Amino acid sequence: MSTTTIVRNTTRPARDLLEPLMASALDLCANLAAEDRYRRLLEALRRVVPYDAAALLRLDHGVLVPAATAGLAPEATRRGFDPAEHPRLQRILATQGPVRFEDTSLPDPFDGLLAADPHGSIEVHACMGCALRVEGETVGALTVDALDPHAFEAVDAEQLATFAALAAAAVRTARLIDALEQAAAQQGLVAHQLLLEAQERAGSELLGVSEAIARVRSEVDLLAHSDLTVLITGETGVGKEVVARALHAQSDRRGEALIYVNCAALPESIAESELFGHVRGAFTGATQTRPGRFEAADAGTLFLDEIGELALSIQPKLLRVLQSGEVQRIGADRPSRVDVRVVAATNRDLAEEVRTGRFRADLYHRLSVYPLHVPPLRERPEDIEPLAGYFLDRARIRLGLGPVRLSPAARAALLDYRWPGNVRELEHVLARTALRASAGRRREAVRIEPEHLQGLETEPALDSPRAPSSQPPAALVEGTLAEAVDEFKRRRIAEVYEQSRNWAETARRLGLDRGNLHRLVRRLGLAG
Ligand SMILES: Nc1ncnc2c1ncn2[C@@H]1O[C@H](COP(=O)(O)OP(=O)(O)OP(=O)(O)O)[C@@H](O)[C@H]1O
Ligand SMILES: [Mg+2]
Repeated sequence: MSTTTIVRNTTRPARDLLEPLMASALDLCANLAAEDRYRRLLEALRRVVPYDAAALLRLDHGVLVPAATAGLAPEATRRGFDPAEHPRLQRILATQGPVRFEDTSLPDPFDGLLAADPHGSIEVHACMGCALRVEGETVGALTVDALDPHAFEAVDAEQLATFAALAAAAVRTARLIDALEQAAAQQGLVAHQLLLEAQERAGSELLGVSEAIARVRSEVDLLAHSDLTVLITGETGVGKEVVARALHAQSDRRGEALIYVNCAALPESIAESELFGHVRGAFTGATQTRPGRFEAADAGTLFLDEIGELALSIQPKLLRVLQSGEVQRIGADRPSRVDVRVVAATNRDLAEEVRTGRFRADLYHRLSVYPLHVPPLRERPEDIEPLAGYFLDRARIRLGLGPVRLSPAARAALLDYRWPGNVRELEHVLARTALRASAGRRREAVRIEPEHLQGLETEPALDSPRAPSSQPPAALVEGTLAEAVDEFKRRRIAEVYEQSRNWAETARRLGLDRGNLHRLVRRLGLAG
């Protein structure tokens, strides 16, 4: 007599089978850990097949490894079963459909491992198994054992085969998830590495040899490791953003995000939602719950650029978050904690803004716990040459040129200029200059002469008032007295500005407060 038979179908009410099958099928779609999926499958199987022990084995490099077991001693779950050493398993894997072992001439792989028979003393027991196949590939095996040799007599082939099919699908799902998780983990690592590299690059560019910039660098070193709020001040283009990025890149938060918010580009109507988020339905158009920038920056740094432009109505809300460390999405019941380091920057004189009522004093005091001032380029002329060298080198690479040098006269011109647009202006001037001096030639040495440095005199500073015209109209002033006074003011401001090309100095010489001069310049139409 054969030791194995292919199990024939016997009839059994379909209803008994339907419920456990449905449960297992639904589990396949549920968001379960692979082990839970397998365990629940074995539980469902027990309601149809009265086993004492069951094993769902994954085929891993030719060895059957228990993915889930029921009724087996713990050591069975920790070892692999090589089909070559276990003829019953070999037979199961080689057979299409379920196999029933009817005598004991082939040793059972789980002899002595059944929890119900710890000494392996009961020799005769019932055993069935079925290979797990997905699209023709064998991915594992499902086995059931019982101490009662007649236990499986009423079991029908379809039932075990159906569970085996579900188990195969579960193994495949788990494999897919594994593969996806691995890919996701890998992508996460790659993204993280790119973030670190980008931050290192962005953070390592606080160039300069002056004492002033060395002081800024040492303050950055000092502050980077604290969670203090830092307010970076300085004229346009001095490198406030570079400093903010350096603060993050050198901090313990460098592996996390640096979230950038330009307060000047944040209309009052959406500022609160942008910063703090909202829940679905909080206002018309809030079709989705959305976290704000504060939450996006959790564990990292939030850079509030141009903080001086933040709408007055938002300022108390920002202050509250800074004080409590909690943000409340618009429409949410409760606030949630965030761990965010805030760095803010402005080219405005915030103390002056407070005096004129455009910035809240309490927020100003909270932000300026640690003010970090970046001096204008004209106060650190030693930095002009090294920065020029750096920007020319970048231009050289971009344009594919040979060595680029400054003639002594060109160098002197750079040192003489007042740089109202600071480092940004220097960068732009040199990019244009290199292009002009190279005249389209590639891979050749380029020498920059003063005539290549066109536009230095009229280079307008970005974001700062346009230089007033130095040529007052020849015609006599016409119109009302007020218009004549305004015209006089225009000429006088232009004249003084021309001498210093520095707004702070112009204000001082005219006996005006700097903020008032700025407003006057705007009103008179001298501002860009
Ligand atoms: N010390 C520096 N080393 C290298 N590059 C610098 C330095 N300072 C400024 N830069 C460069 O100059 C440009 C302007 O710098 P940044 O954007 O940081 O200025 P900012 O103070 O934020 O200006 P704004 O007030 O107009 O926003 C950038 O391209 C920046 O990389
Ligand atoms: Mg900036």
